[in-house]
Amino acid sequence: MVRDDVLQVLEEHRGELVSGGMLARELTVSRTAVWKAITALREEGFPIESVAGGGYRLSSSSDALSSAGITMHLTTEFIGRSLDVFSEIDSTNNFLKLHAAELPHGHTAVADCQTAGRGRRGRSFLSPSGSGVYLSILLHPSLPLEQINLITVGAAVAICHAIEETADFSPSIKWVNDVLQNGKKLCGILTEASVEAETGSLNYAIVGIGINVRTPECGLPEEIRSIAGSLEDFAPHAVHRNALVAAFLNHMERCYHLIASGNTAALMEDYRSYMKFLGQEIRVISNGKAEPARALSINEHGHLIVEKNGTTETILAGEISIRLEEQTDMPKEI
Ligand code: BTN
Repeated sequence: MVRDDVLQVLEEHRGELVSGGMLARELTVSRTAVWKAITALREEGFPIESVAGGGYRLSSSSDALSSAGITMHLTTEFIGRSLDVFSEIDSTNNFLKLHAAELPHGHTAVADCQTAGRGRRGRSFLSPSGSGVYLSILLHPSLPLEQINLITVGAAVAICHAIEETADFSPSIKWVNDVLQNGKKLCGILTEASVEAETGSLNYAIVGIGINVRTPECGLPEEIRSIAGSLEDFAPHAVHRNALVAAFLNHMERCYHLIASGNTAALMEDYRSYMKFLGQEIRVISNGKAEPARALSINEHGHLIVEKNGTTETILAGEISIRLEEQTDMPKEI
């Protein structure tokens, strides 16, 4: 499609003038086709300037999500190599669920806005346009069902590395998978799976992640204002969403290889290095009851080991949640 090819060249020369003649020659299309593609891209909201006699320029401050803009930073073999970028969709997890049978391993759906973003425990996930990235990856892992939590662990580790690379600060992980800075939640992860009823084996897994990049223009709703934060609240510069998505996909593939090859020890070491609450007093919340405990470590399966009432207990993801103690600058329950 000429539109995609023109956008790819402009992304590769972001901030520089590219002449219409050069675009037409490189893409072996007419100058009229180039002009039509530029018009269509502008209508979609891409900030493309034209300079008389000089050509076209994609503004260096453009933060529009695009397949071309993501692909140019990708180093993966399969994650994100088959890619959809939507300006609006109900939910990227829903989209992949609907098309899981026909889409390849690693297919990624990215959206600028979700109208029915879903969170854990049946909650909704606020997904306004221009301020975040909402994406899901379809995987066909050969993993026993009980190891599905490793995919979520991989996603949490991958987004921490991606934030370091593209936002220049190092966040922490609150077990199981909340990624935080100064007590503010920066992103949410929702992993869903389809299981073959007869054999109990995994048909597919979908890992979805929503990342708050900047505060939406309309502000945050009152109920999440004290708990949600965004990357640009902490980054020393503007964050480029295409580069952030690609960095996440690159690290997710690396983590996936560790899981698939059984090298979970390396993944867990990485995961633990972001768990800044280990060794601290926490509260474990089960069936609405909060009990004091000390967070000791994370075992090779990603389970949390705590000391509670003088005994050591292993807490499995999903059966319990934790709250960090008030005296630290660490986050409360989210
Ligand atoms: C949570 O913290 O409750 C998890 C939120 C997960 C949100 C992401 S955004 C992309 C994907 N699509 C969805 O509908 N949900 C996930």
